[in-house]
Amino acid sequence: IDVLEFNKKLKTWYLRNHRKLPWRETNDPYKIWLSEIILQQTRVAQGTPYYERFVTAYPTVEALAGADEKDVLRLWQGLGYYSRARNMHFTARQIVAEFDARFPATAVKLEKLKGLGAYTAAAIASFAFNEVVPAIDGNVYRVMARIFGIYSDILSPAGKKEFLDIARQLISTSDPATYNQAMIEFGAIQCVPVSPDCEVCPFNTVCYAYLHKVQAALPVKAKK
Ligand code: ADE
Repeated sequence: IDVLEFNKKLKTWYLRNHRKLPWRETNDPYKIWLSEIILQQTRVAQGTPYYERFVTAYPTVEALAGADEKDVLRLWQGLGYYSRARNMHFTARQIVAEFDARFPATAVKLEKLKGLGAYTAAAIASFAFNEVVPAIDGNVYRVMARIFGIYSDILSPAGKKEFLDIARQLISTSDPATYNQAMIEFGAIQCVPVSPDCEVCPFNTVCYAYLHKVQAALPVKAKK
């Protein structure tokens, strides 16, 4: 499948099937950051009410920067991985102090901030600023590995680099935000880890994993 056809099918699938989630209704990098940090280790169903309460309590990066850490941690109560909340609070103060409360607008700059990895930086840069940069989380590794038959180890640095190189060729340059959101959503609700319903998948005529019946073997996560 060529890149343009892949993007067309993916976008069509996304427009018909995506869930309406609150952080998809905004271009605000602060809200996108918050949602991505919550969703790193938390399911959408559990994370959504936390996202709503957090945005209500701290609607802007300045509001979060001005909060007491104990209040931030209290709002995080029940989500676990509290370093996420402490890092967000720290980074909010840094964004206010160093960048006059304006988020850096590229993935390369965002990645320098505490608590932001390559995935989160790319998600913010593409969703808020339309940067053409692939946001590759576990969902996206699975989709790419299966459709294109990529057996590289997603836990190794060399493997990650191979996925990144392919994703850079694949990403829509005209609408990178929808491309990234669609890849994540496709992995989350169609190309699921166990027993995906490939009979209704728009890629089942070209998908390597479906055609070779190796869905369960991809992506490869080598044992450490
Ligand atoms: N998981 C991580 N990021 C997500 C997003 N933007 N939408 C849905 N699920 C996600």
